[in-house]
Amino acid sequence: MLTPDQKQQFDQDGFLVLENAFAAGELEKVRKAALAIVDEFDIDRHRTVFKTTDRDAGRDDYFFDSAEAVHCFLEEGALGADGELIRPKELAINKMGHAMHDLVPEFGDFCRLPLIGQVLRDLGYSHPTLWQTMYIFKQPGIGGEVRWHQDASYLITSPPNVIGMWIAMEDATRDNGCLWMIPGQHRSPLREIFRVDWESRTGTLTTLDETPWQIGTDPVAMEVPAGSAVLFHDHMPHYSSQNTSDKSRHALTLHLSDRADSWLAENWLQRPGLGHFLL
Ligand code: FE2
Repeated sequence: MLTPDQKQQFDQDGFLVLENAFAAGELEKVRKAALAIVDEFDIDRHRTVFKTTDRDAGRDDYFFDSAEAVHCFLEEGALGADGELIRPKELAINKMGHAMHDLVPEFGDFCRLPLIGQVLRDLGYSHPTLWQTMYIFKQPGIGGEVRWHQDASYLITSPPNVIGMWIAMEDATRDNGCLWMIPGQHRSPLREIFRVDWESRTGTLTTLDETPWQIGTDPVAMEVPAGSAVLFHDHMPHYSSQNTSDKSRHALTLHLSDRADSWLAENWLQRPGLGHFLL
């Protein structure tokens, strides 16, 4: 699936763009399934906001339990000062996660498309294991900023070996909050780690290294058409701005490792009931 040049580029830059990797029909099945889940979602029962600007202080049981469920999280900008919704529900969800691949057949079928497993095998993952799926809405006007971070801060294996596959469900541009990455910075140190104490069921983000993000002139915008995939290393710093445009920017994200890697107990995401999802 991947050429030697592509493999070398992934190794050198820490990310790789695969333009138009998925057909429109495949995306549409996932998108429809995601919208059907939102339609069923009871917003009066769950008001957990997902934002990244509070050092993850908002992670609660509804978030932790989503490791083995399909839960919807709200945009900060979707609630008024009184905590009431100020937008239609379908324009209020920040993202859903994190076990759609196990629990929603359309997501499971998509994740089992041969291309995904093959790309991982080409990168040396002999038994690709899918830990989580996220469907991110990046709603028009309010889709929240995701601050600079490295995914190895949130998904921890020994050795560090998680790979992200970010798939554009809609065209991603600077205007609607595309991803930004910094070529080569996957070799920089891990800045933070989010660990959960399971007795108190609280998560804490701890700073490990004060090295600044190299965001002066180096970041590259991942402006890609719908159906494109961006693969990235778990130490790659990445960011996306608030979506101030009038267009949404839906994306599906998969995080994988190899079955042989140890999945650590302090990870917020634990799947004792679902086990390994192998591709
Ligand atoms: Fe991330």
